[in-house]
Amino acid sequence: MNVDNIFIPFFLCFSILSLDFPLQSSGLRKMGSSVIRLPNDKSYRQHSFDPSRVTQISRHPRAFLYRNFLTDEECDHLIEVARDKLQKSMVADSKTGKSIESTVRTSKGMFIRKAQDEVIASIESRITVWTFLPLENGEAIQVLQYEKGQKYLPHWDYFQDKANQALGGHRIATVLMYLSNVEKGGETIFPNSEMKESQLKTDEDSECAKKGYAVKPKKGDALLFFSLHPNATIDPTSLHGSCPVIAGEKWLATKWIHVRSFDRKRVSASRKERLQGGNPQSI
Ligand SMILES: *[C@@H]1O[C@H](CO)[C@@H](O)[C@H](O)[C@H]1NC(C)=O
Repeated sequence: MNVDNIFIPFFLCFSILSLDFPLQSSGLRKMGSSVIRLPNDKSYRQHSFDPSRVTQISRHPRAFLYRNFLTDEECDHLIEVARDKLQKSMVADSKTGKSIESTVRTSKGMFIRKAQDEVIASIESRITVWTFLPLENGEAIQVLQYEKGQKYLPHWDYFQDKANQALGGHRIATVLMYLSNVEKGGETIFPNSEMKESQLKTDEDSECAKKGYAVKPKKGDALLFFSLHPNATIDPTSLHGSCPVIAGEKWLATKWIHVRSFDRKRVSASRKERLQGGNPQSI
């Protein structure tokens, strides 16, 4: 028997096994601690994970846009879960690491417990499959609402203080999911992107959007960018902000991902509370 003949039965066997997975699975498959299999049943297949919808929009910072990452129903679900639990967004004081209010960030937000329901768990698994980063390295999804005039001035997602790196270490990457369209304004802007000069701007873009590479929010789209270089040093070009909303409102879901597990195991109760109470953003 030559190699080809052996290969074919092996291949068939493998195909059958891998077909078997989706047919059996009704929900998410979690194997070992973090091996994710996306469900592949009928309803899911209509909106399956499709890397061909991803384009790289910038090399410095490394940023990628995924069209229709979420279905309209998933977007609406995230908004409904968050709507009546929103609180004024906080930022981390860059010296003490303490969570404080600031005019730099004027949105409202709330954290959704990890895998709180099947929809959330499915979104979190999809993020893991897209980013190749472990599920346990992610913070809980934060849902944010920006009303007219509300914004987040350019900032980095990595922390300078040690306190905010105690759990999970540095933030390596951020996934921003747009849950609504915004009539005008509300763009995500990268003021230091090398692509900012080459991006064509139109009257549709706000003045703020013209100051960097801008991503216009579109319901269902997701933006992934890295705060660390592949060599694990911080990337200052990952500076980004949310332009003020001029008309309409902006709903956004954020997933911050760390270099190590963010799941609390032996964390003291007080620190746990601080971390859960609203993990702040670095300014
Ligand atoms: C890490 O990578 C960045 C970007 O390529 C580079 O500018 C920097 O010098 C590198 N640092 C180290 C310590 O390798």
